[in-house]
Amino acid sequence: MTKQQLAVRFDRRLAQQFALQFNQDVLRGLTSEPQKWLSAQYFYDEVGSALFEAITALPEYGLTRADSRLLQRHAAEMVRFRPEPLHIIELGSGSGAKTRWLLEAEATRHGTARYTAIDVSAAALEMCRTTLGRIPAVEIETENATYLDGVRVALRNRQPGERVLILFLGSTIGNFPLPDAVQLLIELRGSLQFGDGLLLGTDLMKPIEQLLLAYDDPAGVTAAFNRNLLAHINRELGGKFDLGAFQHDVRFDSEESRIEMHLRSVRPQTVWIEALDRGFRFGAGETIWTESSRKFTMDGVKQLAAASGFEPRMHWTDDEWPFAESLLVAE
Ligand code: AVI
Repeated sequence: MTKQQLAVRFDRRLAQQFALQFNQDVLRGLTSEPQKWLSAQYFYDEVGSALFEAITALPEYGLTRADSRLLQRHAAEMVRFRPEPLHIIELGSGSGAKTRWLLEAEATRHGTARYTAIDVSAAALEMCRTTLGRIPAVEIETENATYLDGVRVALRNRQPGERVLILFLGSTIGNFPLPDAVQLLIELRGSLQFGDGLLLGTDLMKPIEQLLLAYDDPAGVTAAFNRNLLAHINRELGGKFDLGAFQHDVRFDSEESRIEMHLRSVRPQTVWIEALDRGFRFGAGETIWTESSRKFTMDGVKQLAAASGFEPRMHWTDDEWPFAESLLVAE
C-alpha cells in the first residue's frame, strides 16, 4: 500500500471515529437533565469554520485581532526563551495565519524553523500548509488528530538538542470547563521535557456589556454560528431541527467569569434525529447550552500554570482588547 493510500485509510478511520463520537455526544447532551447541552467542538464543520472566520473580522469581537497583534509585536522575544532551535507545535492550528510571525522569528534566529500543525479538520490543515508553506525556511508537518494524540505523534522523533514550544492560542483553553482545562495542560506537561515551553493565549476580563456585544453582534453572525450547530446535526445525523424555532441566547456568569451561549426553544416541540432513531422534547423557553468562554485574570492564568506543572515565565498583554499571551515553562 502506498503512503497516500495509507493516509486516505487513516483519514477515513478518523472520520468514522468522529462520527461515532458525535452520535454519542449528541445523545448524552440532549438527554441531560435539567440542562441540555451540546459540545462546542461540533460548531466547526465547514460552514461553522467559515462563520468563525467571519466572527474574527467583526468590530465587536476584538479577541483574534488582539492575539495577532501580540504575536506580531513580540514574536522575537517569545521564541528567545531558549537558545536552542525550537520545534513549534500548534494545537488547533486552523489556517495558521497568526503563527507566521513566530515561524519567521524562529527562522531568522536559526536559519530554519520546524513546525507541526495539529487539527481535527483536514481542510484547516490544507489551508495551513498553503499559508505557511510559502515562508522560506519553514519545515512544515501536519497531524490530522486530536490535540494529545497529535502531540504524541509529533514528539515521537524528537531531534537531539531541540526544544519544544507548544502553541495554544486564541483563548481556546477558555472553551474548556476549568477541570478539563487543567487536565489537558497536565497531560501536555506529561509529554514535554523540563525547560520546554507552552505559549498560552487567554482572553482577559473586560466590561460585561462589551463581552455581551462580542458574543451577540448586531449583524447576527454569532447567532448564525450558534444555530449552525443544529444545522450540523441536521446534515450529519439526519436531525429535523427547525433553526427558526431556536433563539441565540447569551449571558455572563459572574461567579464563573464566563460567557455562556445557549439556544432557546421558542415553543414546545419534539425534534427527531434519524441517526439516533428517537425524538427529543423541548419545553417553551428551554435551552441547550452550547458554549462557555472563560474570561481570565492574570492571577487565574498563573494558578492554571501552577496547577499543571508549568512556571509562568513571561506575559504580554494587549491594551486595546485585554488579552494575554503567557510563556509557561515546564518545571
Ligand atoms: C474559539 N473560541 C476561543 C471562541 C471564543 O471566543 O470563545 C469561539 C467563539 N464563540 C463565539 N464567538 C467566538
